Amino acid sequence: MIVITASTGIYLKNRNEVIDAQVKMIKEIGGKIKANCSSPRILIISNPVDILTYFFQKETDFPRSNIIGIASSLDSSRFRYFLSKKIGIKNSEISDAYVLGEHGDSMVPIFSKTKINGENLLEKIDSKQKEEITAETRDYWKSLRNYKSRSQFGIAKNTYDVIESITNNQALSFPASILLKGEFGEKDVCIGVPINITSKGVMEIQDIKFDESEQELFKKSAQTIRNNIQSTQII
Ligand code: LAC
Repeated sequence: MIVITASTGIYLKNRNEVIDAQVKMIKEIGGKIKANCSSPRILIISNPVDILTYFFQKETDFPRSNIIGIASSLDSSRFRYFLSKKIGIKNSEISDAYVLGEHGDSMVPIFSKTKINGENLLEKIDSKQKEEITAETRDYWKSLRNYKSRSQFGIAKNTYDVIESITNNQALSFPASILLKGEFGEKDVCIGVPINITSKGVMEIQDIKFDESEQELFKKSAQTIRNNIQSTQII
């Protein structure tokens, strides 16, 4: 297993600020790994993670089940945190709380699937609270810049969980960036979706159903990632 956290520089307002240098870097890394390894499990942490997962996939042509971009699980833990704060409940009372889509400003908290003590969340919060929770989840990483260089422990814990699952062959369900081939109506894009993994890599992309507004947001998020892929000078 190879974990890629490399970065060519820092970004402050948007994870795409250093996209060209990062894509050049990931293509070089992919070329070297392809020349020396026969399709190991690859965990990509470097940002912009969806774009780098895509270009790594294209550079190596490894099976998509072996290439996982880690970030949506971190967004989902933030989603649970802000949700628990907003409605005054314990984190442990929240289940099925996923953030999918881009690990970026177009990310999509899936409120329609989220449960509070087994009951549908949407009956407990209003649209203003949904907007507030979405903004807090999306922008939290920027506030971290005010008192440390970047997020460390949250992404490290999410990465550790995946390493432990693959190393010990413990099944794990979580959202992560992976190449889609028609799932959720999208193909040829890497984007955060719910997956199940074991030591063999990604075993399943969970086919969960969003509500109509979330489907629309997910579609827009996939297009945002495609636009950023197209905008990269390196193509
Ligand atoms: C963050 C980085 C890992 O969201 O993108 O903190």
